[in-house]
Amino acid sequence: MRKAGKPLDQLTLPDLAPVDHYHARGFQATVELADRLTIGPDDHILDIGCGLGGPARYFAIRFGCKVSGIDITPPFVDAARKLTALLHLESQVEIAQGDGQHLPYAGGVFDGALTQHVTMNVADRPGFFREAYRILKPGAFFALTEHGMGPNANPHYPAPWSLDGGGSFLATPSESRVFLDAVGFRDIVVENTGEKYLAAYKQGMALAASGAMPALGIHMLAGERGAEKMRNAARNIEEGRTQPVQVICRKPA
Ligand SMILES: C[S@@+](CC[C@H](N)C(=O)[O-])C[C@H]1O[C@@H](n2cnc3c(N)ncnc32)[C@H](O)[C@@H]1O
Repeated sequence: MRKAGKPLDQLTLPDLAPVDHYHARGFQATVELADRLTIGPDDHILDIGCGLGGPARYFAIRFGCKVSGIDITPPFVDAARKLTALLHLESQVEIAQGDGQHLPYAGGVFDGALTQHVTMNVADRPGFFREAYRILKPGAFFALTEHGMGPNANPHYPAPWSLDGGGSFLATPSESRVFLDAVGFRDIVVENTGEKYLAAYKQGMALAASGAMPALGIHMLAGERGAEKMRNAARNIEEGRTQPVQVICRKPA
């Protein structure tokens, strides 16, 4: 933030947006997901695998609703809490540490749940979906974005979700649909987001090649072999090894 010339006591949501939406296409993808959802100011939404909490804070500001975020990784939880406090959003956004496969919430309490770019690393996908279904009120939405397995499988690694394939649990979009349906979700709409992701990865690679990467961006979070991960993410889509999707469905009313 200092390098980007942003004083910490004057931070705004747009200041953080380049870095706190930790998924392909970043902030833009969160906005497009939100555009597809109907959320009111009295609603309480859950962001499962909330990362740094950017999407949770965006939903809270955009819809005036309450958002709980939960993440399995303690440093992300700490950072999400700090960033939420810097934006003075603690009364609307609450961050907890925990596993989406075993959510620490009562059943039927949330008006909607989202999980962006988390399920690629979830071993028990049916269990994760079952938990999301359990904590939702009847009629509530569940929204998911991810890199699904493509028709040609065998993704190149390192990829953004795994250095060598360890801890990677991709499912094809059809498998995800079957799992969601089996748990009870209905009105399942699967959108192929591959072309949009590919364009964004290519743009990122061109920026990196020109040496014009901005101070703030999710490249800061990419860790070891970040550039290679981005190249492989693009190649995987081009070669049909992965199939990125956005999925929106609903617990029956
Ligand atoms: C690529 S980041 C996405 C963060 C956030 N959803 C976003 O889009 O900005 C993936 C996040 O999922 C979290 N995660 C992975 N497995 C999880 C699980 N079983 N339960 C909760 N969080 C999980 C990771 O700790 C990480 O913060």
